[in-house]
Amino acid sequence: MHKKSHLEERLAACGSILTVADLDEKDMRLAVLRRKLLNYGEIFASPSPVHLEVGCGKGAFVNQMAKLRPDVNFIAVEKISNVMIEACESAFRQGLKNVHFLICAAEVLPKYIPEHSVERLYLNFSNPLPKQGFVKQRLTNPKFLKIYRQLLVPGGTIWQKTDDEAFFDYSLESYAAEGMDILSVCRDLAAQPFEGNVVTEHEARFMAEGKKIFRAEVRV
Ligand SMILES: C[S@@+](CC[C@H](N)C(=O)[O-])C[C@H]1O[C@@H](n2cnc3c(N)ncnc32)[C@H](O)[C@@H]1O
Repeated sequence: MHKKSHLEERLAACGSILTVADLDEKDMRLAVLRRKLLNYGEIFASPSPVHLEVGCGKGAFVNQMAKLRPDVNFIAVEKISNVMIEACESAFRQGLKNVHFLICAAEVLPKYIPEHSVERLYLNFSNPLPKQGFVKQRLTNPKFLKIYRQLLVPGGTIWQKTDDEAFFDYSLESYAAEGMDILSVCRDLAAQPFEGNVVTEHEARFMAEGKKIFRAEVRV
């Protein structure tokens, strides 16, 4: 993807709803020593439960959710600023007050997100990374599940959707290996629709191609 024109100026213009992490920082152990926790009282207009989306892409899902659920504060995380700018500008145009964007790698989330402050975490169409050499980068690798457990309140949930069956099965194994409770599993969302499902960019594309969508809900 080409770097978008005037990217830095455009990110700066969204400054009130955007936090940009130090993207060179990849080592979680070092990152947490230099915590820069988001202050929810400053970034959100009112105190409400927090939902976090990891890998939000262009933000269609989180912005729609923020409109539908004014009673929830949303944080959307994405590591590629060139992609995230579209999510931020769209929220800015719509005047959404209950969504904040964080350009950050999921690896260093504990630096920015206070411990046990998130009620629900969304993983929508995370990259399946099928090659064995990339297993540790899958967003449902136990390494990431341990991070999510730190961020989620006790009894908090992970809601996952994907079009990739092998990745879905891998994710279910990871949840079980981490001792998480698998609350629900759906192997064809079109056949068993989920009431209130908000469709993401990737989901819309996969549905148009007639692909099956897999969904799980897990309690940490
Ligand atoms: C396939 S896209 C899905 C985008 C969107 N959730 C959707 O459903 O349309 C996955 C996104 O996750 C982001 N991502 C992958 N690994 C990440 C990580 N470690 N930290 C933050 N974002 C990540 C990618 O940059 C990409 O934008």
